[in-house]
Amino acid sequence: MGTFLLLLSLLVPGLLSFLFLPRTLRFLGDLVGCHLRRSSRTHRELLLARVATEQKSYEAEKKTGKAKDDEDWEEIEGAMVGSSVNGGKADHDWNGIAGFFHPFCNAGGGGERVLWAAIRATQKRWPEAVCVVYTGDRDVDKTAILKRVKDRFNIHLHPPTVHFLYLTTRHYVLSTTWPRFTLLGQSLGSMRLAYDAFSLLVPDIFIDTMGYAFSLALSSWFFPAVPTAAYVHYPTISTDMLDSLNAGGQGINAGAGEGYRGLVKKQYWHLFASLYSMVGSTIDVVMTNSSWTQSHIKSLWGPYRNRRNKTTDHDIDIVFPPVAVEELEEAVAVSEASEKKRGPYLIYIAQFRPEKNHQLILEAFASLLSSNPKFPTYPKETPKLVLIGSVRDSDDATRVDNLRLLAHELKVEDNVEFVCDATWPQMLDWMRKASIGVNGMWNEHFGIGVVEYQAAGLISVVNDSGGPKLDIVVEIDGKPTGFHASTVEQYEEGFCKALSLSPDETLAMRHRARQSASRFTDRGFAEKWVQNMDRLVRLQISRAKR
Ligand SMILES: *[C@@H]1O[C@H](CO)[C@@H](O)[C@H](O)[C@H]1NC(C)=O
Ligand SMILES: *[C@@H]1O[C@H](CO)[C@@H](O)[C@H](O)[C@H]1NC(C)=O
Ligand SMILES: *[C@@H]1O[C@H](CO)[C@@H](O)[C@H](O)[C@H]1NC(C)=O
Repeated sequence: MGTFLLLLSLLVPGLLSFLFLPRTLRFLGDLVGCHLRRSSRTHRELLLARVATEQKSYEAEKKTGKAKDDEDWEEIEGAMVGSSVNGGKADHDWNGIAGFFHPFCNAGGGGERVLWAAIRATQKRWPEAVCVVYTGDRDVDKTAILKRVKDRFNIHLHPPTVHFLYLTTRHYVLSTTWPRFTLLGQSLGSMRLAYDAFSLLVPDIFIDTMGYAFSLALSSWFFPAVPTAAYVHYPTISTDMLDSLNAGGQGINAGAGEGYRGLVKKQYWHLFASLYSMVGSTIDVVMTNSSWTQSHIKSLWGPYRNRRNKTTDHDIDIVFPPVAVEELEEAVAVSEASEKKRGPYLIYIAQFRPEKNHQLILEAFASLLSSNPKFPTYPKETPKLVLIGSVRDSDDATRVDNLRLLAHELKVEDNVEFVCDATWPQMLDWMRKASIGVNGMWNEHFGIGVVEYQAAGLISVVNDSGGPKLDIVVEIDGKPTGFHASTVEQYEEGFCKALSLSPDETLAMRHRARQSASRFTDRGFAEKWVQNMDRLVRLQISRAKR
């Protein structure tokens, strides 16, 4: 701890005077890096020996047919390796150690799904590589973690080449440890944790998948030859946050930038933002989970990264996290035959919450009907709106009642159906029968539901904002996969356009929608991940030669 505090007191002014003292800092970094490499060398050799033994016994078990469980691992492996993106045989047998910094790896959330999917993709592309996860979950062993990954996410990892290193200092990144100056405290804490990680093992590639960018800066200070990567779900500080401090801002910190304390807070946040941006400029490969995050990270890190030539050959990449699209693709057909089963039905799958804006959708639908339109593709039927959602409490139930009343007032109650607490088979059924998928929410960060519409071949009509606009309902092959709308009139127009398409156009758009959804599959994620990982591997090889 003493050494670390010393380091810390060097580091903070160190980062600030980055531009003035590069040589001294470089010297210090090399010194510590050298020390860490030396002290963790034995550990590294032990780990590699363990990988070798486990690999041997895995193969022996496979011969005797015991390892049946992992059959599908082998199957997919064969398929994936052949289709790997850059396919270069030369680095196919890269056998370095990729370190994943994920102190909460057993949490079982969306962030963990990304971690495991990333490790699986790495294992398949580089079967010789070793993936280590630095985690603070000291109460679970490898078998338990891998089992949970299998049960929770249906991801089968190859056990011999994935290992866990346990960190003892995780409390440094908990927000409760830092009641004041939490952002800065947690960031410094993550460096402490990373120091802990490096003293266990210095990896050949270091990847942060939890948003601890400062740990990556520490890595590149100690080990300039080790390429670093960040997968960012959410920026630690965003330009929105900085703006919100100003008078007239929005959100929980609205107007908190006034007065003496406010001034301090403002200075602190701005200081932190520039530290964060400097840190961002040290990272070799940056991935974000969505356009929204990408644009925030770009505006913070971009200028610094440009200055340090980090963007010359590639930019901050979007790697969408995997959504369970494949299941829908299997369950819902998109073909000429299946078109006969579809009617002029619009479905809206969403919880009955105010921000989902059901009311606007009802109004738009009513005005579509009031013009008494004829759609040659569906000669016999009149359009129908189906609202599908879960009713969690009495507030939701009240909202459903109000919506029913509204449908009555608008005189469309015969054409509106409510399906409360639908089961998955019921939802699938509607996705097979419907033609259009609707989403009325403004500024949805992502919109998994809209991806599901696309996977089911529905034509989407969504609000012209957020993830549905930027990431999901985008053009494929230069042609639309749905329609964007903001007002009642535009929604009506969107419905009308979607229902007026000729049978051929309709089917073509369904296929494009499905193609669009494939960007969010496990396979789509793996391809993008491998592309970025490939950059890291090539960097690692070229730097090691120097
Ligand atoms: C990206 O991560 C954030 C934070 O976890 C989440 O709110 C958002 O939905 C994610 N985006 C995607 C595309 O999954
Ligand atoms: C960045 O690239 C430019 C042109 O290629 C070069 O002149 C400059 O020295 C580079 N800067 C750094 C920090 O490497
Ligand atoms: C769509 O978003 C706009 C803001 O861009 C909002 O004013 C409008 O109410 C939303 N419309 C619907 C139907 O949700």
